[in-house]
Amino acid sequence: MQNNSDDNKIKEFISSTFNEVAKNYDKNEHFLISAKELVKIVNKHDIKNNASILDLSTGTANIAIEIAKQYPNSSIHGIDISLNMLEIAKMKIKEQNINNIHLYHQDVENLELSAGPFDLVTCAYGLFFYPNMEKVFCDVSMRIKKGGRFIFSSFTQDAFQPYTKTFLEMLKNNYNIKMPEKLDAIALNSEEDIRKLSSLIKPSNLEIKYVKIRLNLSIEQWWDLINSSGFKAFLSPLSKKEHRNFKEEYFSHLERVTLNKTVKLNADTLFAIITI
Ligand SMILES: C[S@@+](CC[C@H](N)C(=O)[O-])C[C@H]1O[C@@H](n2cnc3c(N)ncnc32)[C@H](O)[C@@H]1O
Repeated sequence: MQNNSDDNKIKEFISSTFNEVAKNYDKNEHFLISAKELVKIVNKHDIKNNASILDLSTGTANIAIEIAKQYPNSSIHGIDISLNMLEIAKMKIKEQNINNIHLYHQDVENLELSAGPFDLVTCAYGLFFYPNMEKVFCDVSMRIKKGGRFIFSSFTQDAFQPYTKTFLEMLKNNYNIKMPEKLDAIALNSEEDIRKLSSLIKPSNLEIKYVKIRLNLSIEQWWDLINSSGFKAFLSPLSKKEHRNFKEEYFSHLERVTLNKTVKLNADTLFAIITI
């Protein structure tokens, strides 16, 4: 894959963000709830017991572990660009005595993997981080067996609202912090976006499932979520003083807009089930 230096900068920024949040990432219950949902979907699509599986953006291996528990004879290859996320994954895999997950520290856009072709490729909340999402999607799809599946998830348009809208506006207006343009242009939060992406490979079938994931959080817990997920990328450029000021401004905003200081977390997710 052709890589330009802007893409590399974006990817360095993403990997350093996830390196920073790795040890707290699993406190985010919605990722685990979603991993279980994804495996329920896998179960409904007669994946064979000894399937060869690729998990893109495996992170702390939430998906890989859930699949490994139900398909102990499968061979699961998990890829991630963040070494610290993979370190946590390795620890969890060891603690649970799982021996069919192989982890690789790689950039999905430059895969150097001899395994495959795969019966199943999974990617939970990963595609929208790839500066060349469409190309990755097409390249990886070519490594899936005929009749095999590509199952991926992405947050809906309403996810994390209204809380992130103000979060991002305040950072943009007061601190000039914004998402890199190339990532901002990637849209994968509606059924229409998924259909458009999927049409690039002319699949034999596409099914889209909408799953509600709702939790009540305190304002502190919501702040912890921001600081232990991809949102952290927007806070990293702030100096200590700016960080303190921003936190104060944002908290007083949240206290105004919430009832009983409860953040009603919406982590609603779209699952795409593509048959090759
Ligand atoms: C929101 S996390 C999702 C992790 C996991 N799939 C889950 O559901 O908990 C996104 C992950 O994508 C990884 N990632 C982002 N860009 C990547 C790339 N180009 N290659 C490999 N991994 C990447 C990040 O390091 C991070 O671990």
